[in-house]
Amino acid sequence: MSIYIRQGIIGDISCYIKARSPIGKYTIEGYYNVDTETFIARGQKIYLREFTRADVDEWVNWPPHVDPLFQDYNPPRLSPLERDIWYIEHASRSDMMLFAIADEDGKLIGRLFLRQVDRSKKSAVLGIDLRSDKLDKGYGTDALQTFARYYFEVLGYKVLRLDVAAFNRRAQRVYEKVGFIYTGEHWSSYPPPYFSEVFSEDKYENIRGYFRRTGSGISVKHYDMELTRDRWSERQKYEG
Ligand SMILES: CC(C)(COP(=O)(O)OP(=O)(O)OC[C@H]1O[C@@H](n2cnc3c(N)ncnc32)[C@H](O)[C@@H]1OP(=O)(O)O)[C@@H](O)C(=O)NCCC(=O)NCCS
Repeated sequence: MSIYIRQGIIGDISCYIKARSPIGKYTIEGYYNVDTETFIARGQKIYLREFTRADVDEWVNWPPHVDPLFQDYNPPRLSPLERDIWYIEHASRSDMMLFAIADEDGKLIGRLFLRQVDRSKKSAVLGIDLRSDKLDKGYGTDALQTFARYYFEVLGYKVLRLDVAAFNRRAQRVYEKVGFIYTGEHWSSYPPPYFSEVFSEDKYENIRGYFRRTGSGISVKHYDMELTRDRWSERQKYEG
């Protein structure tokens, strides 16, 4: 269990938490003070906190995606030492920011990372992925809406960019709901065996046009998307 509960002090933030103790003897439920050192923001179904070394241990044990098109999002197999190295390499980079998406039990259900963080231009590129058994339950929309508010209103950033595979309609739908607009497209290459089933299985016929065979593997069409602070603020006026 990787939630941080301690006696409240002035400035602590109250979160609704339902959790079983590490030895499973009792359950706690109610509003508790979450460690302000890691807490970032609270949504309706999730809260955001800093991504810690302990989160790497949870992440590498996530179940794999059933859909082979999402195998790129399966966590890698890492030894404890490799997890240390992974964490240090990612957390220490000045052009990255790592956030954990936690459910009301404090359980890690997703990762939200910023790369190409430019503190002078106030821009960054977003990446998000959830546990494979937590998709399509509204967590992603809630996490992104919560994060956008924090990014624009608290951090004061001006633009958030991302790219998304053309076949990934679910992710596009979520980005559209939060207010991202399409700004362009490009193709990205993947080495074998990524996406090879797209050309051999009939069920992928309707999305095959988003894939091209290249000399060294397969190229996948991606859309570029962007959300500006101005657009975010404008939408808040109408959505309350
Ligand atoms: C992308 C992701 C973060 C979205 O989070 P989520 O919690 O699954 O999404 P939500 O449940 O909040 O919303 C999904 C929306 O997409 C819609 N949707 C789902 N599958 C869809 C499909 N095949 N076509 C169109 N819309 C679809 C849902 O109906 C819902 O929209 P609605 O609220 O208007 O009904 C999550 O699915 C994920 O981590 N996927 C794997 C990794 C990934 O794709 N990352 C993004 C890379 S750019």
